[in-house]
Amino acid sequence: MKILVTGGAGFIGSNFISYWLNKYPGDVIINLDSLTYAGNLDNLTEVEKNYGDGALPEQRRYWFVNGDIRNTLIVESLISKVDGVVHFAAESHVDRSITNPQEFLSTNILGTQTLLEAARKFKIKKFLHISTDEVYGSIETGYYSETAPLTPASPYAASKASADLLVRSYYETYKLPVIITRTTNNFGPYQHPEKFIPLFITNLMEGKKAPLYGYGLNRRDWIYVLDNCEALDLIFHEGRIGEVYNISTSSNEISNIEMSSRLARLLNQPPSLIEFVTDRPGHDFRYGVDSSKLRNELGWNHKYSLKEGLLKTIEWYKNNELWWRKIKEGDIYSSYYSGQYKK
Ligand code: NAD
Ligand code: DAU
Repeated sequence: MKILVTGGAGFIGSNFISYWLNKYPGDVIINLDSLTYAGNLDNLTEVEKNYGDGALPEQRRYWFVNGDIRNTLIVESLISKVDGVVHFAAESHVDRSITNPQEFLSTNILGTQTLLEAARKFKIKKFLHISTDEVYGSIETGYYSETAPLTPASPYAASKASADLLVRSYYETYKLPVIITRTTNNFGPYQHPEKFIPLFITNLMEGKKAPLYGYGLNRRDWIYVLDNCEALDLIFHEGRIGEVYNISTSSNEISNIEMSSRLARLLNQPPSLIEFVTDRPGHDFRYGVDSSKLRNELGWNHKYSLKEGLLKTIEWYKNNELWWRKIKEGDIYSSYYSGQYKK
């Protein structure tokens, strides 16, 4: 099978490509990514070596295309060559969506629509749209099922919810074979150090302050990225067309302050490095999604406990200092690494 992966130079996309090529020796992946600040070809060095340019020509199973999902010409020429699409490409950081919403609406909504239109034109066999638990909005206690109304709070979440609705409309109107997934907070190797866990790990490793928003009472349910890749694989192959699947562990829920203390402890750093800073505007208190549909219908279960995942992640950031230092030292948005909402 030939698959177009969008946003494959980002965190989850690069983990997914490596997972997939290793698991399915007969498959070929084309990775379409415009290499925004979040796209990083260093994430794919091993993939390139094993399956791309480094492999023998007849063994080549991976192609990278530097292009934008909003570019109809590029998108059509690629979609015409594949059987399925796995669509990760997006602006993904909530803080950036608060300071600059425009790019989020453009990429996440119009980019998705450009892909859907091409998928319709070339009669794609399967279109997996990667969405987020944030589209449901915050929930104090309990869990949202896939039929809950969408009440997004940030421009990021609103743009993802809009994309979900467009995807749904292409199923209802054109019978495009789509499936939507909504996952909780991922963590693991290759996550950009603007995000909470890698920001805290790398700041603590450097002996720098780690900025905790508000009182640190907000809660997140974490999933190790490989568990998410397995769920996406299962849903792509066996999920029902036109359906939405929530992906969550539910057992890895923890408050941000507990997570901060745990990270400081695992890195042998004093808790005094954790600094309370001004809260994120509209900060969702908690996400809770019920993944029993995925578990009961498709038999998925997560494998990594929070503890195992964190140990593996810390180990990776320790062994790949050059990878994150290049990003932290080169990125023009470096204010994000010192706490954008610092008082
Ligand atoms: P990321 O920011 O690490 O990667 C996004 C990738 O998309 C980058 O490689 C970037 O260059 C690319 N991209 C952005 N705009 C593009 C455009 N216009 N054209 C082509 N490529 C473009 O994101 P991530 O954390 O890997 O998230 C991937 C997907 O999963 C997103 O759709 C996100 O909404 C969703 N998601 C993420 C999480 C999480 O915890 N990280 C949880 C649930 C859902
Ligand atoms: O829930 C899924 C979502 O998880 C994805 O859709 C998003 O793409 C992804 O970025 C993530 O969104 P969050 O806003 O939950 O993740 P982030 O890592 O930015 O923040 C996690 C929590 O930590 C959140 O409550 C805000 C807090 N935080 C974050 C940063 C960056 C801090 O306290 N300090 C920080 O510096």
